[in-house]
Amino acid sequence: MSKITAAITAVGGYVPEFVLSNGILEKMVDTTDEWITSRTGIKERRILKGEGKGTSDLGAPAVLELCKKAGIDPLEIDMLICATTTPDFVFPATANIITDKVGAKNAFGYDISAACSGFLFALVTGSKFIESGQYKKVVVVGADKMSSITDYTDRTTCVLFGDGAGAVLLEPNTEGYGIKDSILRSDGSGRVYLHQKSGGSVSPPSYKTIDAKEHFVYQDGQPVFKSAVVNMADVSAEIMERNNLQGSDIAWLVPHQANKRIIDATARRMEISDEKVMLNIQRYGNTTSGTIPLCLWEWEKTLNKGDNLILAAFGGGFTWGSVWLKWAY
Ligand code: UT7
Repeated sequence: MSKITAAITAVGGYVPEFVLSNGILEKMVDTTDEWITSRTGIKERRILKGEGKGTSDLGAPAVLELCKKAGIDPLEIDMLICATTTPDFVFPATANIITDKVGAKNAFGYDISAACSGFLFALVTGSKFIESGQYKKVVVVGADKMSSITDYTDRTTCVLFGDGAGAVLLEPNTEGYGIKDSILRSDGSGRVYLHQKSGGSVSPPSYKTIDAKEHFVYQDGQPVFKSAVVNMADVSAEIMERNNLQGSDIAWLVPHQANKRIIDATARRMEISDEKVMLNIQRYGNTTSGTIPLCLWEWEKTLNKGDNLILAAFGGGFTWGSVWLKWAY
């Protein structure tokens, strides 16, 4: 019997309408378009507005679009995994809420928390359920409403993040397309540099934690930057080396979109030229779990069957990883 691989067979995406430009941020905090653009590559980001709206309201439209494109009924979905750092609630899982909102009544699911590497961790997890032969349609969502944990008086973080979601459908393939290899890593000692101080069991939310603004993202940017440059490049080079892939074999690098300078360093290390790097950070900023599927969503029409893609991410935790996949359509 031929080996089953998990192939992406459709992509959906969703970004909210409201555009938070560098120009608007210049009026909110002590920053400039020049600083933000030169240090990060970001020009604008999308923000989900509206009382009572959460991450599932980003993920659900992405999944519905994916079902429409794939020509499937949500009832056909066996499993839905949602990578997110900004779940609708501490519990239940946002995956459960998305399955309810899209009418995927036959699916089970859960969330994966791996910060900016969440989509890769979820993609690899989902692929194993397909490879087992037991499940035929697994949806992997990467969704974050980063505006819900961003302090819009802190110029060091509020210029970085945006809201958005992407989703992919995984189906079995026996012709060698789909996910070929992956490397996932984590190092919990990095948590001190990038985390949310309160809101969890160590420091449950209280008036004190709210007054101290501990329910927002905390980041010490430089150590994160240094680790991201080294680890995202290392893991991308490693997956290429162990599969005998050269830069010229790669059709696209699909990097997490945290900082254009980190992306450029990774591409240089992989000997991949700029035109083969998916880059939309200028329009969406860092949407955490959303960045990689949103790239696939935007580039889907330009991809060809058999294209070699390297997906790479680095994020809070620390977590990082790379995936090599052969595009299936
Ligand atoms: O996706 C999850 C993983 N996260 C990342 O990968 C992010 C990694 N880190 C980074 O991308 C960068 O460290 C940042 C973009 C966050 C910051 O860039 P940087 O080049 O490392 O700047 P810095 O933190 O060293 O700050 C340089 C200066 C400081 O001023 P002084 O101390 O030199 O006077 C900051 O206060 O820039 C100042 N600064 C700003 N100035 C204008 C910080 N934020 C701003 C701002 N506008 N928004």
